[in-house]
Amino acid sequence: MKAVILAGGIGTRLKPLTFWTNKYLLPVGTYPMICHGVAKLREAGFRDLILVTSRTALGGFADVLGSGRDWGVSLTYVVQEEAGGIAQALELARPLIAPREKFAVLIGDNLFEESLRPYREQYERQKDGAMVLVKKVADPRRYGVPMLDPDSGRILRIEEKPENPSSSFCVIGLYFYDQEVFDVIDRISPSYRGEMEITDVNNAYSAAGRLQFGELQGWWTDAGTFESLEDAGKRLKGALP
Ligand code: G1P
Repeated sequence: MKAVILAGGIGTRLKPLTFWTNKYLLPVGTYPMICHGVAKLREAGFRDLILVTSRTALGGFADVLGSGRDWGVSLTYVVQEEAGGIAQALELARPLIAPREKFAVLIGDNLFEESLRPYREQYERQKDGAMVLVKKVADPRRYGVPMLDPDSGRILRIEEKPENPSSSFCVIGLYFYDQEVFDVIDRISPSYRGEMEITDVNNAYSAAGRLQFGELQGWWTDAGTFESLEDAGKRLKGALP
């Protein structure tokens, strides 16, 4: 199974650190952030990785990761000329995914302790549709918040950064799709903030009763704020799987 890592954007919440480098190249423990994602995906059995990033950051990723050889993976780079949201970045990987091919999408600032292998295997067993991972968090208002139907294992709807969250779960930044997701992206429009939202993509699946979920068991963070970046550095130190 291939995996797409999304590592574009401007890292607004991490300014001034992101004035001089891309967010996903900032240190987490003794490695640039991106290395944790690459190592986790490799350990979960992904060997073909597609990294989507901005024109200005591309050289930094090539310096750190090269062809992927030293990391036990094969890397293909895709340039996102303008930031337009997570779904727009994902759309750029379309030519690299075959018809009906299943794949994973990781937002590069999502960091994990546990192995991601069981979740990949769960999606491999899933007949069709998409799968997301959910986790209980202290402040769901920062994230996409799912309404879960535990009986069917499906998600009924996701609300992006709601003021009054309907549950204490959030949807984390590791998604599983098949090639059909690109047709879904074609049908959505930019949100009020002018971005193609991944939550709109996932809600198209949930409206069709085709969005399943797994519950992440271990520690997780998105390292998109100073607090979470510092926390991730302490947790992960020099550890790579
Ligand atoms: C994005 C998604 C959100 C998800 C989060 C996980 O938010 O839109 O649904 O919960 O990633 O990291 P962002 O971090 O881009 O605000």
